[in-house]
Amino acid sequence: MRKNIVAGNWKMNTLLEDGVELASNINDALKSRKSNCDVVICVPATHLVPVNAVIENGILGLGAENCSEHEQGAYTGEISAAMVASTGARYCILGHSERRQYFGENNEQLLAKTKLALANGLTPIFCVGEVLEQRENGTYNDVVRSQIEALFSLDAEDFAKIIVAYEPVWAIGTGKTATADQAQDMHSNIRRAIASKYGEEIADNTSILYGGSCKPSNARELFSKPDVDGGLIGGAALKADSFMGIIEAFD
Ligand code: 13P
Repeated sequence: MRKNIVAGNWKMNTLLEDGVELASNINDALKSRKSNCDVVICVPATHLVPVNAVIENGILGLGAENCSEHEQGAYTGEISAAMVASTGARYCILGHSERRQYFGENNEQLLAKTKLALANGLTPIFCVGEVLEQRENGTYNDVVRSQIEALFSLDAEDFAKIIVAYEPVWAIGTGKTATADQAQDMHSNIRRAIASKYGEEIADNTSILYGGSCKPSNARELFSKPDVDGGLIGGAALKADSFMGIIEAFD
């Protein structure tokens, strides 16, 4: 069966010292109580190595927030999937709406990034989600389906390694969460799209996380839905207490 996962996306937040302390606090909190889900933190690239030094394998997973679509070479400022993997990180967020929106990432680049992440042993956390206009004009199912279809040239063995995160853009950082029913509807649509391409077994085994103003007070209701397998958490992942509060929604 698929895993329940709570993943934090720190975005461009925390200086090194604070980030290491936060990671260490989360690691300690997880050690003192058993959680019923996998827990991952995705941190700024500058933090990967020092954070990896303070977290424990099997307690807390580590990921990057992005990687390059190029393998290596003259791409000043970029960080390759192999570099991410060499830090000890095991996950990589790809296709976050902020990357799509502010850095113009398109389906073709995201497929290239996904292939390189997989080739380097990283588990992609692949983000999809519609903007408010698409929610309001009723095209949201088609939009999200086409975002996930961008990966459908992967073979089944590779696709099966991917974690999907549904993050409606209008819910990110706005305090406006999708209702649990809206999340369930979309997650079930995503799972159906995966089933139609890769079959029921792979679809059933794919973890689909919800992201967008998820917090301790709404996590339990969201995670209680059959197709919502956890969350990708922004703001509430920046404090150990609120992040732990979301993890406890699986108790
Ligand atoms: P918030 O939880 O701050 O809304 O951010 C969600 C998100 O974008 C996680 O990737």
